Amino acid sequence: MILREFPPMGVYETLFRFAGATGTYMGEPGTHPWAQGYPITTQLPGGPPLPDRIAITAADRMYPKADGQPALRRAIADYYNEFYGAGIAPDHVAVFAGGRPALFAVLAFLEDDVTVAIEETEYTPYWDLLNVLRRRFGIIPSNLGNRFRPRLEDHGGGFLVKSNPCNPTGVATRGEELRRLVEHYSAAGRGALLDEAYEFYGDPGPESALRYVKDIDETDLFVVGAATKGLQVPGMRVGWCVAAKRHIEILRNYSTFGMGGVSRASQLYVTELLGLDRVRRARDAVAEFFGAQRKRYAEGLRGLGLELFTGTGGFYHWAKLPGELTGDTFNERLFRHNAGILPGRLCDMRRRGDEGPLGPMIRFSFGPLSPESYDADMAILAKCV
Ligand SMILES: Cc1ncc(COP(=O)(O)O)c(C=O)c1O
Repeated sequence: MILREFPPMGVYETLFRFAGATGTYMGEPGTHPWAQGYPITTQLPGGPPLPDRIAITAADRMYPKADGQPALRRAIADYYNEFYGAGIAPDHVAVFAGGRPALFAVLAFLEDDVTVAIEETEYTPYWDLLNVLRRRFGIIPSNLGNRFRPRLEDHGGGFLVKSNPCNPTGVATRGEELRRLVEHYSAAGRGALLDEAYEFYGDPGPESALRYVKDIDETDLFVVGAATKGLQVPGMRVGWCVAAKRHIEILRNYSTFGMGGVSRASQLYVTELLGLDRVRRARDAVAEFFGAQRKRYAEGLRGLGLELFTGTGGFYHWAKLPGELTGDTFNERLFRHNAGILPGRLCDMRRRGDEGPLGPMIRFSFGPLSPESYDADMAILAKCV
């Protein structure tokens, strides 16, 4: 072999297993895509329409700028300034082809002696990224023992990498607690990557660390966002990183040799989605619609005997199966009904397997579900627990 081998990220592992067992792809009509991390891509009740076309000129066929088109960088800066008083400029923003490429770039260019600190239960591909990039990392306990709610006091040293709200648990660090976290990691010699892919999916409403950052140029904080979830456009592949200008320059330099910028068509589309009046409506609609779905599925899952550990954010339920059931066994049963969840073992940053402490846990996604599917969903789940 000429290439280093590695497996696909966990969600895709589950999708491939599903395809192997059912002969169809999860997400196709007739399947129940509870393993998947994408939101509905149609207009939400009370939400703004999603445009179905954009105009492309000769200029848009030219190469994009390495760090993102000025209009989009400006729209992202305006967005954070409007809703969080962030006090940032376009120079604090770099645009990427989705959230994961932004995460990859930050982790790839950390100095070799930086040790990452990561919660024990986290977003599946962090594990792949850290291992492929051969990063040393320490673990912050996040398990049944602390109900997946680590406190700042549980953090040791290291460069924090954290999803907030957390995927898979939905636990959200907000308000005063988030202010403390930001203050702690803003201090000289400390730093953090805060991944806010689920920023809009909060109860009561969206929240961002940028509300609490005093002067981003004085920090080693990286706030990553994406159009993927909040703006409901995973297919556009647009994400971004907000950081000190000196860090943005490095990310730009990387883009000049490693990425070549991001599709101008996608950037045009997302710039339109970020119009301030539009995005205000989108934030409200997302928080309300998914807040209601979160409550509804919580009742249903509890009624089936699952124990829920879900926080107030995201579009997942993080639940413990009853009895001796594990995520993998549960999936074998669900696959017979063209359904599947993400087994908890794939969120274990120590990868201790289905027999490990996260074996009995599942991540149930209600992101892609229309409100009409609830009864059918519950009927399948009831047969399989
Ligand atoms: C925690 C978290 N961060 C980032 C992303 C980025 O997604 P994408 O690379 O699809 O924009 C996701 C999507 O699943 C996520 O769950």
